[in-house]
Amino acid sequence: MGFLEDNGIRRMRLEDAEEAAEIDRLSFALPWSAGSYAQETKNPVAWYYVLERDGLIAAMSGMWLILGEGQITTIAVRPEYRRQGLGRIMLRAMLTVAYEELNVTEMSLEVRPSNMPARNLYRSMGFVEEGRRRRYYEDNGEDAIIMWNHDTLPAINGELYPTTD
Ligand SMILES: CC(C)(COP(=O)(O)OP(=O)(O)OC[C@H]1O[C@@H](n2cnc3c(N)ncnc32)[C@H](O)[C@@H]1OP(=O)(O)O)[C@@H](O)C(=O)NCCC(=O)NCCS
Repeated sequence: MGFLEDNGIRRMRLEDAEEAAEIDRLSFALPWSAGSYAQETKNPVAWYYVLERDGLIAAMSGMWLILGEGQITTIAVRPEYRRQGLGRIMLRAMLTVAYEELNVTEMSLEVRPSNMPARNLYRSMGFVEEGRRRRYYEDNGEDAIIMWNHDTLPAINGELYPTTD
C-alpha cells in the first residue's frame, strides 16, 4: 500500500468519528453525524480513510465495496486545506484500495450538479456522467448526477483526464 503510506493516509478508526463529523459540517448541507461515522467503521463493506496533516484530519474519504463494484460514499477536505491536491490524493487512494484489496476496477458516485469543484475532480480522474436521480437531495431538491469510472487503472497510475468536454 505504498501510495497511502507515502501520503499519510490510514484507515478511519472509531475515535476519528467526531472529527469526521466536524469536517462534514464544514463541507456539506446534509452532514453525517459522528454516530454515522462510528457505524461505518464497523460496517464490513465500508472502507474509510483519513489523511493527517499537522495533527489534524485534513481530508477523508470512504467507499462501499460490494459485488465487484465500488461506490464512493464521501470525500471531503477541510476548507483550509483545499486546492492543494488532497482531494485528488484521497480519490486515488480509494481507487487504489479497491483494486489492491478486492480487485475492483469499476466505481460510481453521486454528485450535485452545482458542485463544480467535485465534478471537475471526478472528471479529471476518469469519471463520466451516466445518469441522474431526480430531486435526490432533500435540502434543496437538487438532482444527483451519477458518475462512473469503468476502468480505474489509468487513474490509479496517475493519468489525468481533461475536465472540459
Ligand atoms: C471537492 C473537494 C473534495 C476537492 O478537494 P481539493 O483538495 O480542494 O481538490 P484538489 O486540490 O485535489 O483538486 C483536484 C481537482 O479538482 C478540481 N477543483 C478543486 N477545487 C476546485 C474549485 N474550487 N473550482 C473548480 N475546480 C476545482 C480541479 O479540477 C482540480 O484539479 P487542478 O488542481 O489540476 O485544477 C473539496 O472541494 C471539498 O471538500 N468540497 C466539499 C465537500 C464536497 O463537496 N465533496 C464532494 C461531494 S460529491
